[in-house]
Amino acid sequence: ISSTLLAQAAAADNLDAIEAVRVKALGKQSEIAALMKTLGGMSPDERQRQAPLIQGLRTRVADAIAARKDVLEAAALDARLASERLDMTLPVATAPQGSIHPVSQVMDELAEIFADLGFAVATGPEIEDDWHNFTALNIPESHPARAMHDTFYLDDPEQMTGDWLGLFKPDTRKVLRTHTSPVQIRTMLKQPPPIRIIAPGRTYRSDSDATHTPMFHQVEGLVIDRGIHMGHLKWTLETFVKAFFERDDIVLRLRPSYFPFTEPSAEVDVGYTRDKAGRRVIGGAEPDGWMEILGSGMVHPKVIAACGLDPAEWQGFAFGCGIDRLAMLKYGMDDLRAFFDGDLRWLRHYGFAS
Ligand code: PHE
Repeated sequence: ISSTLLAQAAAADNLDAIEAVRVKALGKQSEIAALMKTLGGMSPDERQRQAPLIQGLRTRVADAIAARKDVLEAAALDARLASERLDMTLPVATAPQGSIHPVSQVMDELAEIFADLGFAVATGPEIEDDWHNFTALNIPESHPARAMHDTFYLDDPEQMTGDWLGLFKPDTRKVLRTHTSPVQIRTMLKQPPPIRIIAPGRTYRSDSDATHTPMFHQVEGLVIDRGIHMGHLKWTLETFVKAFFERDDIVLRLRPSYFPFTEPSAEVDVGYTRDKAGRRVIGGAEPDGWMEILGSGMVHPKVIAACGLDPAEWQGFAFGCGIDRLAMLKYGMDDLRAFFDGDLRWLRHYGFAS
């Protein structure tokens, strides 16, 4: 029986098969178990002769089965390791990543360009009071410019007259700021000249169509120093526009205009040319036409005085520019409202999301 059992153990080719061999060869019903039982009926002499033989047989068979089992177990482990191996060279699916919005992008570009010219970034509250938004900017009550601003007024009585943030002139109505110009006032009240700041941020007017949204973005510029004149304004704007649109052959046109808080005032146009497809492109030494990009002027002496400075000693210039419009011109976008829809397909189309 030994050679049959050893052959069966050797032939077992998986763990189930070797277990079956073990049960058959060594279990209670096995021939070896039956042989062991015969020892009980033998005479002591015979048992002494037979016992080592039967035990030896049992041990040989058990060892052979155990050895085979070890081999099969090792093979099974190898197979599992091979099938469960991770291929670390497979490319990973990329997770979607956030990206910067064109408005934020332009604000960053502006901060960088003006930092090179020595301008700091200033901020002010989006809820303003009437005094900072209008009166101090030489737009008194009943001035027609107030009507032109389509102002959102806050109607909570406490917010209309309170000063719950310690920010406001008491007893003046609260508004959503209609422009970033109140940051001029706040900056002049807060820090002594010389002043060179830009103030980018959200602004609000009750207006909505393809070129107007109730919330939009402006950047204010303010310089206050001794001996400042229109030449400084023009040079600063030219330097800014060339850096922003990344070309040197941009022509600016200053048109006389009117703002209550600047005198003289100028609206500024940039020259455009047309590309082969007929689209307008900012720049070109001989413009085919003009696009208005900002309002500007020399800060009105009344504004300087309202901030406690002597207009005989301190002069300055200021400008205010729509950021959304700058982004549209630079990146070729044509619907302002899409800026605030949060539509990823639109952002992707212009390369602002992946
Ligand atoms: N605040 C003006 C506007 O919103 C722009 C401006 C700013 C004009 C500074 C002159 C100087 O239209």
